[in-house]
Amino acid sequence: MKIGVLGAGQLGRMLALGGYPLNHQFGFSANTKDAPAASLGRVFLAKKKIDNIQALSNFADVITFESENTDAEMVAQISKNVAVYPSKKSLFITQHRGREKALFDKLNIPCAPYQMINSLQDLKAGIESIGLPAILKTATEGYDGKGQFLIKTTNQINQAWQNMNGVASILEKFVDFKRELSLIAVRSIDNDHKYYPLVENKHYEGILRLTIAPAQAVDAKMQKTAEHYMQILLDKMGHVGVLTLEMFETSEGLLINEMAPRVHNSGHWSIEGANTSQFENHVRAITGMPLGDTKLRQPYCAMINIIGEIGTTDKVLNMANAHLHLYAKAARKNRKLGHINITAQSKLELERSIKKLECFLPKSFF
Ligand SMILES: Nc1ncnc2c1ncn2[C@@H]1O[C@H](COP(=O)(O)OP(=O)(O)O)[C@@H](O)[C@H]1O
Ligand SMILES: [Mg+2]
Repeated sequence: MKIGVLGAGQLGRMLALGGYPLNHQFGFSANTKDAPAASLGRVFLAKKKIDNIQALSNFADVITFESENTDAEMVAQISKNVAVYPSKKSLFITQHRGREKALFDKLNIPCAPYQMINSLQDLKAGIESIGLPAILKTATEGYDGKGQFLIKTTNQINQAWQNMNGVASILEKFVDFKRELSLIAVRSIDNDHKYYPLVENKHYEGILRLTIAPAQAVDAKMQKTAEHYMQILLDKMGHVGVLTLEMFETSEGLLINEMAPRVHNSGHWSIEGANTSQFENHVRAITGMPLGDTKLRQPYCAMINIIGEIGTTDKVLNMANAHLHLYAKAARKNRKLGHINITAQSKLELERSIKKLECFLPKSFF
């Protein structure tokens, strides 16, 4: 099938790399002709957006998107002529933190106490009821910790609100979590569901740096609970494709942080680490193919993000159990330029391999 992707970043690039072996073709709506995915398919430059979206729709048998920050109205228009998966419903809910949290509440999925904020007055009242510390986040458009302000004391309230530039926001209680986990799952057009194991994610300055798959010390009950939340969300939204749930493990159990209607950075390990990668499974789902097995191919796996500068990658290429993935992006501070997947037969081998690649990770992780 011909798959049209709205966006041409690294996620689109890896979707294509996952989909070509299955005989699919790809086209991308891109802002520049040197976008990470541009060399992997037809490129529809978004200069005259409407015309190019039309051309992409004419090209494609099915359309998907690589970011929740995709114009939902445009997706609704496209859906009239060509199938879009995940649907505009999933996109509409997941692109707004308030709508997402309202759905969690409706489905009794636990998350941190929150309040929607539209003014300084709202913020003062929110802090009164939620308490401090708390995090103020823009309701839409945030990623990699952008558009967030951690409020520790009441004298930061004005500054926090100024920082939001008057946009609709959400105030969340700061969660004193043990660790961050995520669950990736995929649902097919004919309602099959597959779940990857919970993985552990380590962030630094709001950006994911390291994922360990599977997360250690996860009992069957925790995995089941996470899968239950996932299943009701997939079904309620009628979601087709990959869906990701980010969560906090706390002493009282799991609290869901946010969800993403797409392949996710914390699932990149699955390229060499799982029987079927998240990218291939997303492609399978949206093209009506049977979903692939989600088990690990070996007991342990890790993913290290390459952030800001590419660095000494020969080291990676010389390790038998490490796999280098670069995204064809120019170096820039805090930019995701690639990742390294590590596979291992034992925990010790995994730890030693991560240590060997410590130059790619923040010093504070060691
Ligand atoms: N309520 C919270 N309590 C504690 N830490 C949080 C909270 N919300 C976010 N964070 C931290 O900030 C990171 C980024 O926030 P997140 O809501 O996931 O936004 P983004 O869309 O930028 O990924 C999280 O992975 C977590 O480390
Ligand atoms: Mg997040």
